[in-house]
Amino acid sequence: MNDSILISPSILAADFLNLGRDIAAISDADFVHIDVMDGHFVPNLSYGTTIVEAVKRATSVPLDVHMMVTNPDETALWYADAGADLISVHREAVEDLSALADRLHERGVKIGVVINPATPVSDLEDAVDVVDLVLVMSVNPGFGGQGFIDATYGKLRELRELCDRHGVSPLIEVDGGVSLSNARALAAAGADVLVAGSAIFKAPQPAAVIRDMRELASIGRTSRKD
Ligand code: DX5
Ligand code: ZN
Repeated sequence: MNDSILISPSILAADFLNLGRDIAAISDADFVHIDVMDGHFVPNLSYGTTIVEAVKRATSVPLDVHMMVTNPDETALWYADAGADLISVHREAVEDLSALADRLHERGVKIGVVINPATPVSDLEDAVDVVDLVLVMSVNPGFGGQGFIDATYGKLRELRELCDRHGVSPLIEVDGGVSLSNARALAAAGADVLVAGSAIFKAPQPAAVIRDMRELASIGRTSRKD
């Protein structure tokens, strides 16, 4: 079991006119989650390497880059060069996960694989052995502020079983609709990393939400049966 629950605030919900201030407000987080959207894999366009480089200069918190793009095999390395510490690519989009994992690992960058709500856990059968992290989407990717999909709990448990069968323990991350009201249950179901955008950045005190979320999740994790 991984040691503590990690919190990864998604800057999609930050105030972009005050991004430096918002990054400073989450200096106690374990990651900064950066959502890269290409307007093709998902029906929204966000930001690219320029923002990753700027955030890297502003913080020592590791960068967790979530790539919602059609061609991650081609573009993931741009983000490694821009300062990403962990890059997650979608199972539905990546062509050769194992080759990409080698290329990122050579550069000292970790790799994650992501599944959409409609993608079954069984599609990760050949992926869990080569990645450092698995991200389970709990909303359809593209936008912040959506409602959490309850079927995620079952997928987390199924994913833990799959990892146990393979004798591997990648970090398990959940993204979308995560808040103080489900952090505990998510950790109990097997999540190690919680991504939260609106719940953290729309709150008056983001640092307090991070602290409370970590605490609730730690309680949930203690009740996990593994
Ligand atoms: C959705 C993104 C999420 C999003 C989460 O496509 O991958 O990271 O920012 O936002 P909230 O926490 O507001 O659901
Ligand atoms: Zn994300």
